[in-house]
Amino acid sequence: MKILLFGSGGREHCLAWKIRQSRHCTKLFCAPGNAGTAQIAENVAINAEDIPALLEFSLKEKIDLTVVGPENPLVAGIVDEFEKKGLKIFGPKKAAAMLEGSKAFAKKIMRKYCIPTAEAKEFVSAEEALAYLQRQKMPVVVKADGLAAGKGVLICGTLPEAEKAVKKILLEKEFGEAGAKVVIEEFLEGEEASFLAFCDGKTVKPMASSQDHKRVFDNDKGLNTGGMGAYSPAPVVTKKIELEVLQGIMQKIIDAMKKEGAEYKGVLYAGLMIKNGKAKVLEFNARFGDPETQVILPRMESDLVEIMLACIEGKLAEKELEWKKDACTGVVLASGGYPENYEKGKEIFGLEKVENAFVFQAGTKIENGKTVTSGGRVLVVSALGKNIEESIKNAYSEVKKISFEKMHYRKDIGRKAVGKKR
Ligand code: AMP
Ligand code: GLY
Repeated sequence: MKILLFGSGGREHCLAWKIRQSRHCTKLFCAPGNAGTAQIAENVAINAEDIPALLEFSLKEKIDLTVVGPENPLVAGIVDEFEKKGLKIFGPKKAAAMLEGSKAFAKKIMRKYCIPTAEAKEFVSAEEALAYLQRQKMPVVVKADGLAAGKGVLICGTLPEAEKAVKKILLEKEFGEAGAKVVIEEFLEGEEASFLAFCDGKTVKPMASSQDHKRVFDNDKGLNTGGMGAYSPAPVVTKKIELEVLQGIMQKIIDAMKKEGAEYKGVLYAGLMIKNGKAKVLEFNARFGDPETQVILPRMESDLVEIMLACIEGKLAEKELEWKKDACTGVVLASGGYPENYEKGKEIFGLEKVENAFVFQAGTKIENGKTVTSGGRVLVVSALGKNIEESIKNAYSEVKKISFEKMHYRKDIGRKAVGKKR
């Protein structure tokens, strides 16, 4: 099969690596890809959001399967457009991708179908939102309704902070149309985990559990980022919680979407908050997580393309997902200053010395024959090990071989899982 993958991050390098191992894959294109995908696929210089250009390319090249990495094209309706032309594509249609595209929509469905989540209320009027805030216990979470590249969630410890957040979104329009509505949400305490599953519209099959590290510095200090590292499996997701999430959240939402006439196919990602053995939904994403993918797929034994085809064809129930027993830890190497201002174009040294880990490239490009930094999150170093401790040790001993000017990484990825048995 000729396969086309959209996106340019570490997640896409990892997806490309796994797709290339499929017995079905004869040729892989990445649009636009990065320096990592260029080593294993043919990069095509089309932006992942340019739907007409991607469509034209797919028809011309007779692409057999398209895989979408990021959320924006899904929410913009790329799956609908491709299917109209008879092209096979993995991911939810626009109406189903609204689970990520609108936080208010996701809340409405969860409320209607009794899926556990934080209490929340939505507003379009700043005046009403501000009046509502007066009656709320702090902290609260103020969220822009639409897609805001992970920046639209503001955790507010005090009333003035919350008021500022509402004004920023509704009046100053900091997130543009994505902030036409705000969702004001109860602050949940607990431990976070990521729960990803394959869905074919009716059947749900979970991937291995994982945990992301969102803050930029050790011990969860500093600003929120796209994710500074991850590990899998996450012991906080016990067998009992996994079963409850599968039945009480994932299967329920898939059934709900079907009933609502918006059948969900693709990967569904639930961000969970777990406390006292109970999980509540923080958010849904309509795609693979980054960097969770980089620690989940190295553990996957099954043929990814075969599973994706089963999702598209509604035959997921016939498939068994197989996972390695090994744990996996992935450490993000970022540009100093990220998630705020950082410099680009720094030469990356030592990549060729890495032996015992996967290096998934994110913000990289080739300049004058050298691999240089081109983004905030530059690389993810993912290593397997027979348990979490060993995978952490393996990852960090390979990280030490890599360097670039002002490189920054967290030293405590996976620490929360150490000593905990699943
Ligand atoms: P989201 O994009 O909705 O997952 O939010 C990004 C991050 O904000 C999450 O990973 C949590 O760390 C935090 N967050 C979101 N909603 C809540 C909530 N209701 N209570 C506590 N933390 C939250
Ligand atoms: N790791 C968080 C995300 O992919 O949204």
